[in-house]
Amino acid sequence: MNIMRPGTRIDKLVGGHAAALSERLQTHREQLFPPDAKRELRKFTSGEVADLLGVKDAYLRKLDLDGKGPSPETRAGGRRYYSPADILALREMLEKGAKTPGTYLPGRRPGDHLQVITVINFKGGSGKTTTAAHLAQKLALDGYRVLGIDLDPQASFSALHGVQPEFDLPDGGTIYDTIRYDDPLPLRDVIQKTYFTNLDLIPGNLDLMEFEHATPMALRERQGSFFFTRIGDALAEVEDDYDIVVIDCPPQLGFLTMSALSAATAILVTVHPQMLDVMSMCQFLLMTSNLLGVVAEAGGSMDYDWMRYVITRYEPGDGPQNQMVSFMRSMFGEHVLNHPVLKSTAISDAGITKQTLYEVERTQFTRATYERAMESLNAVNGEIEGLIQAAWGRGKGM
Ligand SMILES: Nc1ncnc2c1ncn2[C@@H]1O[C@H](COP(=O)(O)OP(=O)(O)OP(=O)(O)O)[C@@H](O)[C@H]1O
Ligand SMILES: [Mg+2]
Repeated sequence: MNIMRPGTRIDKLVGGHAAALSERLQTHREQLFPPDAKRELRKFTSGEVADLLGVKDAYLRKLDLDGKGPSPETRAGGRRYYSPADILALREMLEKGAKTPGTYLPGRRPGDHLQVITVINFKGGSGKTTTAAHLAQKLALDGYRVLGIDLDPQASFSALHGVQPEFDLPDGGTIYDTIRYDDPLPLRDVIQKTYFTNLDLIPGNLDLMEFEHATPMALRERQGSFFFTRIGDALAEVEDDYDIVVIDCPPQLGFLTMSALSAATAILVTVHPQMLDVMSMCQFLLMTSNLLGVVAEAGGSMDYDWMRYVITRYEPGDGPQNQMVSFMRSMFGEHVLNHPVLKSTAISDAGITKQTLYEVERTQFTRATYERAMESLNAVNGEIEGLIQAAWGRGKGM
């Protein structure tokens, strides 16, 4: 049955909707972030910086009084604020005098491999992008050199970092440009700096879909047999520039995701602890296992440092959710991270303005709401940092 008016061309109709929506979104963005005001990361209070560095606030004050390191901006009430660049400068200064190497700059040392963490699950809305963005940003704040890659044509990870593909990437600029089968570009050409010190980005847009279309053709013409090595091969070019790469995958198990899985040294599967989500994950795991088996047979690398499930949008008071979490823990044991990401309005509200919890000011929320969410994110990210350090053969700060 045709529920549209006779003669309505669906392509024209949908195209019209897209144009109207795009215009509105642009206006909305200009209201949030005026084009002449370059998006900048806020400054951090000396208390926050002390927590990040693992020192006392009084020590930072002393450094400042002694004229050592960057001097903070003092605002009303005597509060001291440091920019992200100041935090990095403090790390570099303190690392020079540290008894244990890696205390303030915990990244790679000679011989350590680049770590590539791929965040996946084909269930839409399982918290992949939220997890990937908060992880990438926290690692950058912790002094690691991080590259975030948006593999999702929906480009939510890019939007969280101030890049809106329909306006900012009219002529390409995604990783597709570097993994395409004809005339691939060098990876450096598509890497952008973000307003986070230590965090670079390869944004996503609809071009990424091309890889799903081009790969079957390339396979037929026998140039695509190693499609799964393409992301890893491209990353090899910038291997020395970063400590960690975080890849946000689309909610599907296509060639892009397969290639990201092959490039990965670690895998993070996000799971919302509800029956339907866990059932869907079962299908996802089966398919992944089958597909990776095929890739392994074709010579793809299947060596991983670690693989973990992270529970997302967790509500501790919800009985069925708790049952699901216990069930997963009993099945998968240590493969489930100990800390879940709590469901929090602070995280979803920050998302509405295309920000993470690390970007927004605490004063926008009630203190308890903000702190609970922050504590849970830091606990999850801290566990992951422990796995990263362990993969380099050390406990943090060893
Ligand atoms: N811990 C949380 N608390 C509250 N809201 C959250 C939390 N995590 C994610 N959300 C919200 O849930 C929605 C889906 O999250 P997200 O975009 O991270 O999922 P996704 O798996 O990347 O989705 P997709 O499969 O579409 O890529 C978003 O609106 C996000 O703001
Ligand atoms: Mg996403």
